[in-house]
Amino acid sequence: MQIHFTNSLASASGCLCAMVPRDLPGLHNRFPMHADARNRPFQSIQTRPPALWGTLPASVVLGAQWGDEGKGKAIDQLAPHSDWAVRFQGGNNAGHTIVVGETTLKMHLLPSGITSRGCKLVLGCGMVIDPWVLDRELVEWAELTGERPEGERLFISERAAVILPFHRLYDSADKLVGTTGRGIGPAYRDRTERVGLRFVDVGKVAGNPDAVNSMSDRMNKQLDTVGVQDRIEPEQLQSELNWILERYSEAIQSTGPMLDDALSRGENVLLEGAQGAMLDIDQGTYPFVTSSVTCRANATHGAGIHPGHIDQCFGITKAYTTRVGNGPFPTELSLEEGPGKQMSVVGHEFGTTTGRPRRTGWLDLVALKESQRLNGYSGLVLTKLDVLGGLDPLKVCVSYELDGNRIDHIPASTDDLSRCQPVYEEHPGFPSLDVDEWIEMAAESRSGEGIASLPQTIRDYISLIEDHTGIPVVSVGVGPDRMASIASSGGPFDVDLSEATF
Ligand code: GDP
Ligand code: IMO
Ligand code: MG
Repeated sequence: MQIHFTNSLASASGCLCAMVPRDLPGLHNRFPMHADARNRPFQSIQTRPPALWGTLPASVVLGAQWGDEGKGKAIDQLAPHSDWAVRFQGGNNAGHTIVVGETTLKMHLLPSGITSRGCKLVLGCGMVIDPWVLDRELVEWAELTGERPEGERLFISERAAVILPFHRLYDSADKLVGTTGRGIGPAYRDRTERVGLRFVDVGKVAGNPDAVNSMSDRMNKQLDTVGVQDRIEPEQLQSELNWILERYSEAIQSTGPMLDDALSRGENVLLEGAQGAMLDIDQGTYPFVTSSVTCRANATHGAGIHPGHIDQCFGITKAYTTRVGNGPFPTELSLEEGPGKQMSVVGHEFGTTTGRPRRTGWLDLVALKESQRLNGYSGLVLTKLDVLGGLDPLKVCVSYELDGNRIDHIPASTDDLSRCQPVYEEHPGFPSLDVDEWIEMAAESRSGEGIASLPQTIRDYISLIEDHTGIPVVSVGVGPDRMASIASSGGPFDVDLSEATF
């Protein structure tokens, strides 16, 4: 099959190493982000000895934007080389997609590392977990694979918070944020108020009718305050608690010490973020955020281990931007026409959890740099590059203009952010290919020099992002499928992708 590019794969010679950085990421990304960064020679990640990547204890995969960047796919790719995959925050507001051939998995609570049978799984103490949603996912997994991982290789932190029907009902009253309605905020709120239910406490409450009565009483009063008519009956709550106990008693464990022991045995741990840096409760576009700390600082804490274990931290970013739910979005485009419509249609931009259309826009480097400040990525995974095929020119937002002034950070005030106008740099586009052509290109590049063997126009777009952010791109996604990725040669994603184990 002929793939038409000005520079064909075979003739691509100006390899990325020539134009990209050189002090390898190591423990931290050491590239400062001065305005003159673009004028400095960029060093290639390819000089890192491949063997080193495999010996690092804990790695983190994080959404670098407003969520839905393709974290599930990245975790699935790394999982065969990890002993553990751990969710550390959020709940089933997340929807992480994995596509392997004809099979599409949408994970809301189960860590995406489940696709590798050798990978043990933890739902960490920083999570809020809806036991009924988890049950459904486990049933679906068992139907697909015949495996029942709970208590065998899937463990739920005894400290994780339980999402109850009350939390969902309370969340349904949200009119501001455009939440997923899954009870996430109310469950975290209960935890912060120290009235929430943790898995370790379910038995104690279930065995005490007074506690059940006072819990349902409190819930009903709170539902009144937001005008929700439904009621929590104590008998119903009692039977729900009994069911949770029975269903999960073997899976509920002390997972922090479990992971600490594993790390001391030299096993490696993959920490799977949900949502994205711009949805972080402290650092995101508040109040249009989720209710947890989505950033690297919480990755170990929400898993019950210390931050010193982390070495690699991968930021997942689309080659453009999407956002689902309300809140300011400076690079937003129309979904009805032009590039915004192409992103929506070609990228199938509909929420994995709620099915809502995702808002689309050009890549926002201001947000990405903010995300880098918070997370210190050692590598970027650039997803959905294929979706931009055929758009010319491509635009990237390099700064904002606010009330006549250029700024290069995200203002804390939502009102200010709403008034920010994007300042764009334009970049020549590249042709559109069909799914099979992209997969073919990925296969060819994997057997060649990886990212360095991509056509020049694509490499230029990648270099632009690397230059502005100071982060090396370690993998490029060109389709939803596990195989539709192109890694930097010798880098952390330069792994055998063919190990489907389900
Ligand atoms: P997550 O929440 O970060 O795991 O991302 P989601 O699964 O919610 O959304 C990402 C969507 O993009 C899913 O439908 C993926 O199958 C799809 N996807 C991931 N990477 C690529 C890519 O490189 N190209 C295309 N076209 N789709 C991708
Ligand atoms: P993954 O892990 C995209 C958004 C919601 C809403 C806001 C608050 O798949 O990337 P919440 O229900 O968390 O209280 O909603 O956050 N949101 C996400 N957007 N991807 C997600 O997860 C999201 N999880 C929550 O749309 O705007
Ligand atoms: Mg998602």
